[in-house]
Amino acid sequence: MHRRKVGIIGAGAVGATAAYSLSMMGTCNEIILFDIAEGVAKGKAIDIAQSTHYAPNSTIITAAESPADVEGCDIVVITAGVPRKGDMTREDLLMINAKIMKSVVEDVMKYSPDAVIICVSNPLDVMTYAITRITGWERNRIIGMAGALDGARMAYQIYNKLGFGAGQIGTLVMGDHGQNMIPLPQKVQVGDVPVNELLSREEMEEIIERTRTGGAEIVKYLGTSGYYAPGRAIAHMVEALLNDSQIVVSSSVLLQGEYGYSDVTAGVPVVLGKNGIEKIIELELDEETRAKFKISIEGITSGIDILKANHFFE
Ligand code: NAI
Ligand code: 2OP
Repeated sequence: MHRRKVGIIGAGAVGATAAYSLSMMGTCNEIILFDIAEGVAKGKAIDIAQSTHYAPNSTIITAAESPADVEGCDIVVITAGVPRKGDMTREDLLMINAKIMKSVVEDVMKYSPDAVIICVSNPLDVMTYAITRITGWERNRIIGMAGALDGARMAYQIYNKLGFGAGQIGTLVMGDHGQNMIPLPQKVQVGDVPVNELLSREEMEEIIERTRTGGAEIVKYLGTSGYYAPGRAIAHMVEALLNDSQIVVSSSVLLQGEYGYSDVTAGVPVVLGKNGIEKIIELELDEETRAKFKISIEGITSGIDILKANHFFE
């Protein structure tokens, strides 16, 4: 029987929480963690492994001593990166994290050549683009995690307004994982009820704004970004891939003509299954949403252009 193996590169807050979520769900047989900081992967792997004593299925959690140990994985999740510090510009951060992607991805290509990669590191859409270009793999195997999280954040805001419908709120967030993300209220249903039957336009505007700033709100309280919802969102995607669930999850993917754009990655609804992205769903966007999507694409392209101007792909 094929043993389902997931590699997680970057055993920081998000990577470790993804591993914990997956091990509590019992979705895979094995998870291997790698982190460049000595002891981090080992310590977290031991702690999570001990927690599986009370999990429905026992998942084996180990730490890699070197990138070569992350071998033969079905899925590799990349959460490695550095946060923005002091006098670092957005450009500095982008180049630093892109270089991390390059070194990490070269190892993935060597040791898990058949894997599907889920990119989590920020700036998400640009890092997903970088991985797509570095690997040269078919685009269905490189998936950026953002819509799964931003959609959950939107559902949380809607529930907070309504006070009912938890677990029944279907949301869709497209575009970039940043200030120009596009939560789409016209696509939201609570149970089978369109949300515009339940909330006013003004209430939805507030929800959209709070969704966009959902990440920053957590930073305000914790001084660092969230990891429970990101970790669980990653696990949701991993489960869909391993179970070949064919479910729709908004994710960042290289566009090749879809929505009128090419050579750029952005969040759009996709179907997830055993091959990664099985299908990109092209929605008919109204004029206002098309204009917002254009702004979002321009923001992502400006990040990609920084990589190109710095000869990153040469
Ligand atoms: P963290 O700082 O807790 O963890 C990052 C880990 O990456 C650290 O342990 C660090 O040692 C490790 N690392 C750095 N370079 C490495 C390399 N070359 N190889 C292996 N490991 C390496 O950060 P956190 O909170 O876990 O976030 C991780 C990334 O995910 C950040 O870029 C963050 O902005 C992003 N993020 C993205 C979300 C999304 O929706 N796409 C949501 C939340 C976070
Ligand atoms: C978040 O949305 C930082 O991307 C991260 O929380």
